[in-house]
Amino acid sequence: MCGICCVVSLSSSQCTLHNHVYERLRHRGPDHSQDITREVSDPEYACLFSAHVLHMRGSPTPQPLQDDDGNLLLWNGEVFGGLTVQLEENDTKVILDHLSMCKSPSDVLSILGQVKGPWAIIYYQKEEHCIWFGRDFFGRRSLLLSWGSDQSSFTLTSVSSRSLGVGSSNCLEVPAVGVYRMDLKSWSKTNNLKVEVYPWGYLDSDFSWEGLPGSISFVKTDSGLVLSPRVPPMNMSITGVEPKSCQSGQTSTDNLKELLKRPGQQETVRCLIDVLGEAIRRRVEHLPDRSNPNGAQVAVLFSGGIDSMILAVLADRYVPLDQPIDLLNVAFKLQESKMNQGSGKKGRKKEHDDVAAKLRPRFDVPDRITGRDGLQELASLSPSRKWNFVEINVTQEELRDKRAENICHLVHPLDTVLDDSIGCAMWFAARGTGFVSEGAGERQHRSTAKVVLTGIGADEQLAGYSRHRVRFKSSGLQGLVEELAMELGRISSRNLGRDDRIIADHGKEARFPYLDEDVVSFLNTLPVWEKADLSLPRGFGEKLLLRLTAVELGLGPSAVLPKRAMQFGSRIAKLENSREKASEKCTRLSSS
Ligand SMILES: *[C@@H]1O[C@H](CO)[C@@H](O)[C@H](O)[C@H]1NC(C)=O
Ligand SMILES: *[C@@H]1O[C@H](CO)[C@@H](O)[C@H](O)[C@H]1NC(C)=O
Ligand SMILES: *[C@@H]1O[C@H](CO)[C@@H](O)[C@H](O)[C@H]1NC(C)=O
Repeated sequence: MCGICCVVSLSSSQCTLHNHVYERLRHRGPDHSQDITREVSDPEYACLFSAHVLHMRGSPTPQPLQDDDGNLLLWNGEVFGGLTVQLEENDTKVILDHLSMCKSPSDVLSILGQVKGPWAIIYYQKEEHCIWFGRDFFGRRSLLLSWGSDQSSFTLTSVSSRSLGVGSSNCLEVPAVGVYRMDLKSWSKTNNLKVEVYPWGYLDSDFSWEGLPGSISFVKTDSGLVLSPRVPPMNMSITGVEPKSCQSGQTSTDNLKELLKRPGQQETVRCLIDVLGEAIRRRVEHLPDRSNPNGAQVAVLFSGGIDSMILAVLADRYVPLDQPIDLLNVAFKLQESKMNQGSGKKGRKKEHDDVAAKLRPRFDVPDRITGRDGLQELASLSPSRKWNFVEINVTQEELRDKRAENICHLVHPLDTVLDDSIGCAMWFAARGTGFVSEGAGERQHRSTAKVVLTGIGADEQLAGYSRHRVRFKSSGLQGLVEELAMELGRISSRNLGRDDRIIADHGKEARFPYLDEDVVSFLNTLPVWEKADLSLPRGFGEKLLLRLTAVELGLGPSAVLPKRAMQFGSRIAKLENSREKASEKCTRLSSS
């Protein structure tokens, strides 16, 4: 993961980067920082390229990387497939070698379209006076566009800061609907910055560019060129549904084992294990040497729920057995007053509850409890692995401080209550500072893992959310499959840019195995009824395919846990005003 940034301006005096943004970029790439400026007189413009590298593979490659013709590349990504990158090679170098040879826009698109893996890119073509930028098909890496009040300079950056300008209206996430080409020559001549959009194949690229200043316009290319996505469209077929001979009300792992015996079922499950296992292998292998020889290189954002359990079990196959794996489990402290707010219980019962609440450790939130159970399951499946179950306890004071200091800038330009809760929970979890139980006591633990695996994408693809049940009830399988296709399309703007900014702030890299191109391709070819059966009860029917996979992998009770969203599982939502709506604008983000 890296922090990349480019400021373009019509006058060199305005071609500067705010300290505050520079510092945030450095958090993302603590291993090497470098700035390059270009001042061009005909046509007249200036560019500042600022790159901050987190070293993940090959030998460290300083960025911005230049070729012999003066083209410049800023690459925040990982090539996990598509283009060949030898083990000891820099993927940044490989990408630039390919781009240097491009003669036309269609060449550039064909290179970027081939890459499998997450990326955000800024590429300056000297001869053409243009800048290419964009994000991968799912938008797994952040890229923001912001502008100053006078509109004579624009900034592309991995992360920004709330404190610049008023409100969020001068900053937006670059939509992951395609790649973009910015023509600096015509800008310099006309004062109007024209950005051409080359869309991803079948994606709906009719994005509404609200809030843009008048001097910038985005237009879909009239060349007809598109990028070909590496994943096929979702299978929308709802015919041929196979009835499940499962009586409702039976929701145990034994029932899952029964379902696994249906014809063809085990093959599907094994295919998923192969493709997901391979995605995880590519994400945990060949990491740079550890700074601490006893520390973990790989961590999992861990609630003990089925998505994170499967990540842990499969990571266990590919992480060398002499290395620990960190399981990062976050909990927010319940306030005394909130703990006692019962449902108006009176008398002895209430007294009894109060005493029980006092005795209960205040960090024993739902995810902590399922996390501990999950740890037991993992320890019995793989007893010789050292599993560090990292208990990350966050107090309200610390939450307030870190939100004001860091998190509100990282979430920006997103701004809802939900962005705030998930952003905060994820920031503390990914930081990985907490305690690990040892015998009767506990010791301080600071995770050294640079790779953080997260389960995002499982619920969106396998119908894990309660809104999927609502949709299924109201409009059946047809409604459900439409909902899933829509959600996968908007996952970049809802989650991924934000999650990348949050996790990268610790100099760590978020990796999303459920959003690997091959995993999504496999899931997209399956009909919806293979992924979930929402006529079956909660904790069983949603993500049914994943539950069957868990059983096949030897997991027990965690296979039938119902979904609990991070903001509830970690109890951060309880800590704050519980009456506010998730989609409301969060006042805590702007007042801090
Ligand atoms: C990686 O990139 C750096 C900078 O371009 C270069 O010096 C180094 O030789 C490259 N390493 C490999 C293995 O290609
Ligand atoms: C963290 O919370 C857990 C409860 O889940 C508790 O057992 C542990 O003692 C707490 N540790 C610290 C240092 O607060
Ligand atoms: C969609 O699923 C159905 C049922 O399994 C299958 O027959 C069909 O080939 C699939 N379509 C695509 C495009 O994968």
